[in-house]
Amino acid sequence: DAGDKNNFRHYMEKEIFEQPIAIKNTLLNRIKHGKVDLSELVEEHATVLAHVEHIQIVACGTAYHAGLVARYWFESITGIPCDVEIASEFRYRNPATRPNSLFITLSQSGETADTLAALRLAKTIGYISTLAICNVAASTLVREADLVLLTKAGTEVGVASTKAFTTQLTVLLLLVAKFSQIKNKPALVEKQIVEALQILPNRIEQLLSSADKIEKLAKHFADKQHTLFLGRGDEFPIALEGALKLKETSYIHAEAYAAGELKHGPLALVDKNMSVIVIAANNHLLDKLKSNIEEVRARGGQLYIFTSEDSDLADADSKNMHVIALPKIEELTASIYYTVPMQLLAYYVALIKGTDVDRPRNLAKSVTVE
Ligand code: G6P
Repeated sequence: DAGDKNNFRHYMEKEIFEQPIAIKNTLLNRIKHGKVDLSELVEEHATVLAHVEHIQIVACGTAYHAGLVARYWFESITGIPCDVEIASEFRYRNPATRPNSLFITLSQSGETADTLAALRLAKTIGYISTLAICNVAASTLVREADLVLLTKAGTEVGVASTKAFTTQLTVLLLLVAKFSQIKNKPALVEKQIVEALQILPNRIEQLLSSADKIEKLAKHFADKQHTLFLGRGDEFPIALEGALKLKETSYIHAEAYAAGELKHGPLALVDKNMSVIVIAANNHLLDKLKSNIEEVRARGGQLYIFTSEDSDLADADSKNMHVIALPKIEELTASIYYTVPMQLLAYYVALIKGTDVDRPRNLAKSVTVE
């Protein structure tokens, strides 16, 4: 029940802890006999999927970050070129449409003014079809898009979006599997996506059961003025999302960088007063990330490294370097998984700071005017 916080102190906390069930609900009836089934897409439009040669994703805020993650997936897994843009930019720059391009909008509410305007524009400039991934079935966006995939997060009340984001990523990964079928990728690709998605709710459940680990860390941030978030690959957008959560809920200035950009500017900010959060999933980029970690360490920065207990960073805890070793996760869903500790951290820091967690100052749940 959306109107009830149950035993939780805030909606944000409740919604973070609801993510395993929200993801389960989002997967329900969309995987059959080990294969992704999106037959809910209306047939006359669904046939266009076979002709898609490019994907344009447009969204605002947290939903935009989901789009950024999906770009890594679409290009590396399906080979379909993908661009992602903020709706308020897309709508005013007279964008050029690629041939056979599918326009995808992501939105929790389906009422964000810029996102709606971008969809309406897209419908006039030659996209092969438009698809809305949205959490509200009765929304304007859902009504106006050709194709719809609903996230089944349930009502999200907290202004800082949590379960809407992870369920958007869930739907996007289902869509990636669908396109891997369409583009005749090896069956193993889809199998691995399906398996990773099916186990994901349990993995998040397990992570949430040790939320107190992250709660203990929060006090390190409560008196901070600035925090830097770093990630690489599909964890870079999670760094962006982590920084957004922290600034929204705690009013701490937070910035995210692709870790490889450290030398191009942000390193100048690093001294013993700078906290640096690193999302270090155990993948082929881990060694690159280790060099970035060393760059921060050499300048005395306070490191907080979120990694997997099976990564060789797991035992690297030392002075000025806090390692938060999390249960292992499939590589395909690591970005979804690592979102959760970022949300928890933002929530617990906000609790200490005593901010209005569910309704941060100056922000609205749904931005229906420009
Ligand atoms: C507001 C909310 C964010 C949300 C963004 C986009 O800024 O506070 O949480 O990500 O709007 O909203 P939408 O409903 O389109 O996802």
